[in-house]
Amino acid sequence: MISQRKDDHVRLAVEQQQQHSGHNQFDEVTFVHHALAGLDRADVSLATTFAGLGWPVPLYINAMTGGSERTGAINRDLGIAARETGVPIASGSMSAYFKNPDCAGTFSVLREENPRGFVIANVNATATVDMARSAVDLLRADALQIHINTVQETVMPEGDRSFASWVPQIERIAGGLEVPVIVKEVGFGLSRETVGLLDSLGVRLADLGGRGGTDFARIENGRRELADYAYLTGWGQSTAACLLDAQDAPIPVLASGGVRHPLDVARALALGASGVGVSGTFLRTLLDGGVTALIERITTWLDQLAALQTVLGARTPADLTHCDLLIHGELRAFCADRGID
Ligand code: FNR
Repeated sequence: MISQRKDDHVRLAVEQQQQHSGHNQFDEVTFVHHALAGLDRADVSLATTFAGLGWPVPLYINAMTGGSERTGAINRDLGIAARETGVPIASGSMSAYFKNPDCAGTFSVLREENPRGFVIANVNATATVDMARSAVDLLRADALQIHINTVQETVMPEGDRSFASWVPQIERIAGGLEVPVIVKEVGFGLSRETVGLLDSLGVRLADLGGRGGTDFARIENGRRELADYAYLTGWGQSTAACLLDAQDAPIPVLASGGVRHPLDVARALALGASGVGVSGTFLRTLLDGGVTALIERITTWLDQLAALQTVLGARTPADLTHCDLLIHGELRAFCADRGID
């Protein structure tokens, strides 16, 4: 049953990519153009450091899949693409591995194909400390993501309905692991209040996982036979809104959800993200054009991100936070409502 769900998620996420209007709230963030801000490309670096970690680039392939034969093949290609481009990569939820250890290879292939890269294991917030450790061990992972997804679980016919244990469980996992723990949303966003709570639980990094890209309310609606939750489409805060909301966050934040091209990466970094994650867009590239197309795409994104930093006068990804930004439309109204300057 889990392996069927994993295959459904891939199919429905790619269908959604094909239907997406192309607009999201990153369009309400523009850079003020300063015509003489430019640097020499040779002086620009994509390397970034945060929370005691050093990444060669501020872009990563975010959590997607594993647990079935088909998704194991996808993970093999994602692992190869990560190795060839140097981007960090997260596994999909490893719950399937806890239920059926026979599918371990569909996850560990990420590490086998990418022996020296930065690899992140992924569990849900009901995992025990031992389960979280075994997920990290299986991938020889450099960090652990815990995904939090109350809206997805609610719309998912077979999903969880009890969430009260998540807070103490996240604290146990964060306190019990040697590797840094990242808590991520799956596309509905983390508010600044939630990021503050995560900090108090010992979580080292928050992946804001906002609205604007893959929509798991729609995906799970597509898997329901009975009355649906179509009215939940659009729930949550966009990734750009989450970044503005988390301006003074006590822990570093990563940004994911609806990142469509290198300009969105630059916008997210300028809004304070330490790294930017992409799932749906890269999945579609892989399934449309194979691993060669994905490697080509990621290479192009990194090259163009360096080009944008050159124009914007940002020697490092972190320097993008010094750029002048304009915030428009509904995003501006969100800032006013939340008291953000
Ligand atoms: C996901 N995502 C996800 N996240 C997670 O933490 N554990 C998981 O198992 C999965 N599974 C999954 C499957 C598929 C097919 C997709 C496309 C995505 C969510 C993902 O990491 C990310 O938060 C959202 O997809 C939003 O980013 P994009 O797709 O808009 O770039």
